Amino acid sequence: LITVKDIYKDRDKYMDREVTLGGWVRSVRDSKTFGFIVLHDGSFFETMQIVYSDSMDNFTQISKLNVGAAILVTGTLVATPQAKQPFEIQAREILVEGESAPDYPLQKKRHSLEYLRTISHLRPRTNTFQAVFRVRSLIAYAIHKFFQERGFVYVHTPLITGSDCEGAGEMFRVTTLDLENLPRTEDGKVDYTRDFFNKETSLTVSGQLNGETYAQAFRSIYTFGPTFRAENSNTTRHAAEFWMIEPEMAFADLEDNMALAEAMLKYVIRYVMEEAPEEMKFFNSFVDKGLLERLQGVVNADFAHVTYTEAIEILEKVNDKFEYKVSWGCDLQTEHERYLTEQVYKRPVFVTDYPKEIKAFYMKLNEDGRTVAAMDCLVPGIGEIIGGSQREDSYDRLTARMEELGLKPEDYEFYLDLRKYGSTRHSGFGLGFERCVMYLTGMGNIRDVIPFPRTVNNCEL
Ligand code: 4AD
Ligand code: MG
Repeated sequence: LITVKDIYKDRDKYMDREVTLGGWVRSVRDSKTFGFIVLHDGSFFETMQIVYSDSMDNFTQISKLNVGAAILVTGTLVATPQAKQPFEIQAREILVEGESAPDYPLQKKRHSLEYLRTISHLRPRTNTFQAVFRVRSLIAYAIHKFFQERGFVYVHTPLITGSDCEGAGEMFRVTTLDLENLPRTEDGKVDYTRDFFNKETSLTVSGQLNGETYAQAFRSIYTFGPTFRAENSNTTRHAAEFWMIEPEMAFADLEDNMALAEAMLKYVIRYVMEEAPEEMKFFNSFVDKGLLERLQGVVNADFAHVTYTEAIEILEKVNDKFEYKVSWGCDLQTEHERYLTEQVYKRPVFVTDYPKEIKAFYMKLNEDGRTVAAMDCLVPGIGEIIGGSQREDSYDRLTARMEELGLKPEDYEFYLDLRKYGSTRHSGFGLGFERCVMYLTGMGNIRDVIPFPRTVNNCEL
């Protein structure tokens, strides 16, 4: 069994020879003595046209096949220089591996993305989702390749955790306790010493704290895994379960961190444009008309840089445009992020040095005493795609900050140890993988770039 991709990659090897393909029927068209099948085999974006004739015993069975049927085709590959596609297969034999019922939900017409979300088990058979999920796979590979080529060690951080890295309290609890009959301590609190881990635990919101421990041993590491957030934000950019890439580098400051983030995004864009030209052309034609030109521009230009304080000055001048008015100290909303990257800079922009109050406890305090060495990377169409920082490497400043925020140092002993035993200046960031896929494909909803999305009120399949 070969694939459509094999044929496209090495046409001379297969031309005018007999080949066998296995795939699913996209359409069947027949006249009295012959017919055409459009076959998709999942190996490549393009389909293969099959011509069959009544010299085959099962001609009538084939002509009656429904869309979605699985077949094995054996026949001769011939060139069709006049046709839209460069070749077709003249079938000698077609075996029906699995019929498809007539109520197959994917018919030839175009279905809306909303409808396809209701059949997430079947949508990977459509052109759009063939393109999205092949590109998603390639982006994942390109990210690994980028970090591995630079000597970063891939660290697997745990999904079940006892700490809240971002301190936002958006954790999904993990428990084996009987929810109908919770054990309580004398003061009425839930008694987690009776739970599986002997303490309160949750699904991780970030692998960073564990990742930092390995950076202090391997220098440069990255994580790539699922993270979970019980954010009650029903938007096109938030999922309750999403994947994150979190590099962490010892002996690196905020500048090094931004240079790494920029190099990584450019590398991944180039990789995908080279390795998936058919899919990228499809997105450019049917999903987002300016996509290829925009991505090419991103690769060719430097990212912009602006401090939070400067960004607020820019935004305050156009405050009447926004639903949420900005002033120094407020967190940037998507509308502000998009204004900066789409209207002001028209390319990706790093916003740095945010007020410490709106960022996590682990970020390094700047000399002004009120901002931290944070950076968010904002991109057109999405807003924040990356969040990162230089980390507080001083034991005293870190414990002081934790106390200010009411975090218990005993819950973070391992983390504080890193500042006790050979502390280094170090930095890292988190790239939201789905947001990266949205950015590179032009897809507008996070539900359409993750195979089985988990969002508010939605955990199908
Ligand atoms: O900015 P965040 O919260 O940063 C961290 O978690 C740090 N620990 C990262 C680090 O420095 N190692 O999240 C990082 C990125 C965001 O920029 C965004 O792209 C993505 O994760 N993200 C989400 N993506 C989808 N759905 C959500 N609910 C997301 N929350 C964050
Ligand atoms: Mg963030």
